[in-house]
Amino acid sequence: MSDDTSSRIEGFHKMAPDARLQAVARQAKLGNEAVATLADAASGQIELADRLVENAITSMAIPVGIATNVTVDGRDVLVPMATEESSVIAAVCNSAKRCRSTGGFRTSTSGPVMAAQIQLLGASDPENVRLKVLERIGEIKAICDETDPLLLKFGGGFRELDIRVIDTAEGPMTVVHIIVDTRDAMGANAVNSMAEALAPKLEEWTGARSLLRILTNLADRRLARVRAVWPVEEIGGEQVRDDMLSAYHFADADPYRAATHNKGIMNGISAVVLATGNDTRAIEAGAHAYAAKDGWYRSMTRWEKDGDGNLVGILEMPLAVGLIGGATKIHPTAQANLKILGVKTADELARIIVSVGLAQNFGAMRALATTGIQKGHMALHAQNVALMVGAVGAEIDKVAEELKALGKVRQDLAEGILARLRSEA
Ligand code: MEV
Repeated sequence: MSDDTSSRIEGFHKMAPDARLQAVARQAKLGNEAVATLADAASGQIELADRLVENAITSMAIPVGIATNVTVDGRDVLVPMATEESSVIAAVCNSAKRCRSTGGFRTSTSGPVMAAQIQLLGASDPENVRLKVLERIGEIKAICDETDPLLLKFGGGFRELDIRVIDTAEGPMTVVHIIVDTRDAMGANAVNSMAEALAPKLEEWTGARSLLRILTNLADRRLARVRAVWPVEEIGGEQVRDDMLSAYHFADADPYRAATHNKGIMNGISAVVLATGNDTRAIEAGAHAYAAKDGWYRSMTRWEKDGDGNLVGILEMPLAVGLIGGATKIHPTAQANLKILGVKTADELARIIVSVGLAQNFGAMRALATTGIQKGHMALHAQNVALMVGAVGAEIDKVAEELKALGKVRQDLAEGILARLRSEA
């Protein structure tokens, strides 16, 4: 007898997505409405979903909005941002507008260089292992480059070795970093393949045993940097500027605050990373690890006052994004978003993304140092709450307007307003 409540669904991965959905509906006792919602949500992209992930049953649409007013290195650019959070896009538009008079965002990058790590175990003399590996750099380059001839054709490939001996709870370990120029690829596949191809050779040459072979997301050789200047009159005066500096010093000194401050920066960064089909988790991991590079977790941004009293913001962070490979290449929405951005290289994309991060941080600090963030959230948040309590059509705006007028966006109040509107109708 089949058990419809079991999480063991025989042959699930081999089923077509609609059959999987039916099997899930039986197990989770979904009604027809929920099944129809899930089926509709795939919006013609179920085949794509089925290619991208295992056991796909649908897709989930995230809103994409455009950040306007952004100038990066003298070029005006419209920036698609995929996010479910209200105020994130508005904050970028507003912050970018306020630094247009000083030229917008100026950026630089360190080049598209990634690293993979190979962990070597059981060496009686890790320092000796280090030297033995360094002697083989010519052969190592050949093995890595043979793994990805296409990368070589586009001017990328193996660049150098970095070999570290680290102290661990089970004694010293040798860690080999292969440093690779991955051009317009994010590079995970390229460097992981190289590390796996190289590991047996390292064993042969050193007598050590290789264990993990994987890229590091702390892509500290693939940095994007941005600087922008906000005139004091665009900030709202000297007091607001000084309060924003106090907000920054708070974040830089206190990990509890830094986590939230940096989360705000990542609101902007991850939204563009997602809109372009790049790996949000890779970027987030790299960003937070880099924020702790001094031995404690700090603000990802730096802020200071210049000689004219303007506010200067700087953000430097690892940004391993690509234009080829993965969802970026095969997701039609990601491709269309890249067209809007008008970028030809991964480097250009990274420059725009880091600019959005700085803009986001300016907006959050300015809001927090003045009115607080709830006021800005109010309009969209009120609509969300109206939706949450079941308002439909014209009711949504009516409920939201009344909530805003009350100055309190609360679910209980929204329920009362909706009930009254319906009884009046
Ligand atoms: C909310 O998603 C982001 C903020 O909390 C960021 C910050 O506190 O700086 C507003």
